Amino acid sequence: MAAEMKSGLASRFESLLVLSAMNVLVVGGAGYIGSHCVRQLIAAGHRPVVLDNFVYGHRAAVAPDLKVYDGNLGDEALVGRILRDERIDIVMHFAAYCYVGESVTAPLKYYFNNVVATLHLLNAMIEAGVRKFVFSSTCATFGIPATLPIHENLPQAPINPYGQTKLDIENALKSLATAHGLSFAAFRYFNAAGAAEDGSIGEDHDPETHLIPVAIDVATGRRPHLELFGTDYPTPDGTCLRDYIHVDDLSRAHIAVFEQLAAPGAQLFYNLGTGTPTSNRAVIRAVEQATGRRVKVVEGPRRAGDPPALYADSSKAQRELGWKVKFPGIDAIVASAWKWHASHPDGYADRKRPGTRA
Ligand SMILES: NC(=O)c1ccc[n+]([C@@H]2O[C@H](COP(=O)([O-])OP(=O)(O)OC[C@H]3O[C@@H](n4cnc5c(N)ncnc54)[C@H](O)[C@@H]3O)[C@@H](O)[C@H]2O)c1
Repeated sequence: MAAEMKSGLASRFESLLVLSAMNVLVVGGAGYIGSHCVRQLIAAGHRPVVLDNFVYGHRAAVAPDLKVYDGNLGDEALVGRILRDERIDIVMHFAAYCYVGESVTAPLKYYFNNVVATLHLLNAMIEAGVRKFVFSSTCATFGIPATLPIHENLPQAPINPYGQTKLDIENALKSLATAHGLSFAAFRYFNAAGAAEDGSIGEDHDPETHLIPVAIDVATGRRPHLELFGTDYPTPDGTCLRDYIHVDDLSRAHIAVFEQLAAPGAQLFYNLGTGTPTSNRAVIRAVEQATGRRVKVVEGPRRAGDPPALYADSSKAQRELGWKVKFPGIDAIVASAWKWHASHPDGYADRKRPGTRA
């Protein structure tokens, strides 16, 4: 009797799950943040499929049984086919080129991929009648903020083409919401960091420019030293302050927003960080503590365009989405990154398309 009740409850729970399950196209789902989001989607009972051209993504970052389309997000015919064949409800768009320095020297590469290709993706959605979109934006759209912490209503004034491409798409989304009833959420991430709690997937960029994986590479002897850009900033220890947010915390916000996307024409903007400023030196100390090894540092001059401090006010996401950060401190974030790097010293070791990264 008890067993019957239990199985009845279980099947009712399952049917509820099925009712609310969304078919989600995860564009850039083989990349760092996208692959973590795919995991969270599956855990929440949704049905993701991935579109990635693997220019930076990794096959091993997505489960072998997951449907993966190898193609370009700017290919409208392909995207249209996927949207219809997979009966997609929501598109999550993580794919972009993300190197700030390269965006300054090769801006067209960034405008073509981050803006032009994204407009094709959006056109394919409009044509196919798919009206829900979640976009990976960035705190770089704010440029050098006049005040801190950075809340959603501060003026956006990017100082490099990368940030500008993201702001261009934010603006295009507003127009599409008005003209076509597109519902969208644009999340401005601060510094994404960390890895899956089981250490099975993690961060593997090539080239890697992010402080935590670079410091771990130095600790493990894969790089000779870490260059610390600027030690004379007006901050407590002279180094830049940044806001590190765990990749799974970011991913959870993407799912928490589904309900709000139900309203046609919804225009949602959220800054996602922990709100805790962490200095570069504090990150290095956390890496030394997690790895038990020294990180050799070479102090260098400031890098052009690096603001002294960037950290988020994420109270809007907490209030409106019920979103809560599970990894509030740098130690827990670095520990999860270390779990991945310690078990995958060569990352995914699948450099599939050498030469495509230039
Ligand atoms: N990592 C961060 O700290 C951070 C901070 C702010 C914003 N963001 C944004 O978050 C998103 C994800 O960042 P990430 O660190 O996971 O990057 P990533 O490079 O690891 O992932 C991007 C994925 O998109 C794919 N891709 C790129 N262009 C494509 C195209 N034209 N067609 C199909 N696939 C394509 C790549 O192969 C890769 O798998 C980006 O849009 C980035 O701008 C990241």
